[in-house]
Amino acid sequence: MRKKIVAGNWKMNTTVQEGVELAKAVAEKAAQTPENVGLIIAPPFTHLCCVAEAVEGSKVQLSAQNCADHTSGAYTGEVSAAMLKSVGCQWTILGHSERRQYYGETDEKLVEKTKLALAQGLGVILCVGENLAQREAGEHFTVCQEQIKNVLYNFTAEQMANIIVAYEPVWAIGTGKTATAEQAEEIHACIRRTLAEKFGEQVAEDTTILYGGSCKPSNAKELFAQKDIDGGLIGGAALKADDFIAIAMSY
Ligand code: 13P
Repeated sequence: MRKKIVAGNWKMNTTVQEGVELAKAVAEKAAQTPENVGLIIAPPFTHLCCVAEAVEGSKVQLSAQNCADHTSGAYTGEVSAAMLKSVGCQWTILGHSERRQYYGETDEKLVEKTKLALAQGLGVILCVGENLAQREAGEHFTVCQEQIKNVLYNFTAEQMANIIVAYEPVWAIGTGKTATAEQAEEIHACIRRTLAEKFGEQVAEDTTILYGGSCKPSNAKELFAQKDIDGGLIGGAALKADDFIAIAMSY
């Protein structure tokens, strides 16, 4: 049985103090959420140490939003997978569309980053998704399939046990425009088929695939009811403990 996960991507929001408050509130309410739903929060790098302490003893796991494509050395401004591991991260998000769009993150770089993260024992939340022009051109299935193939086909079935996929249609991120449950489900099913082609049915069945893009308490239930949607990667609504927890309670 694949795991249900609700993950919060805080992006570049909150000061450390605000972040610790938010993490504490999430950790406190986490006990109310269903046992079979995992919770992950991904604060900015600067917050990780303090937030690790704030969520200790709760079921909330810690993720980074990115990691470096090198092991260590002269890469000013970068943060390595080993550093993330050393502050208590269990996960890192990779390939978020904002990183692809604004920071030139390519699929090739994501292969390197995924290798380094897995080698340090971090789980990877790999984001894929089409932009508006690609959807309007009817390319949404192929764009997502290509992103999956370009990155994940470089890994083994065993490594897939530590990888989560997040489908985030770019046009739905931060816009208030959620994909309909049907639009999301058909891409999730396509992602699962693409995984099955390479890794076999069992691995595809066991892989958690999250939906992200204007997911909130009011629409989470309908999205999460879809067969191939295994939870959410939440942006804006993850900045309010009550909303984040309400989303996790939608199961
Ligand atoms: P919003 O929930 O704010 O649309 O952001 C989604 C997202 O990008 C999560 O990674």
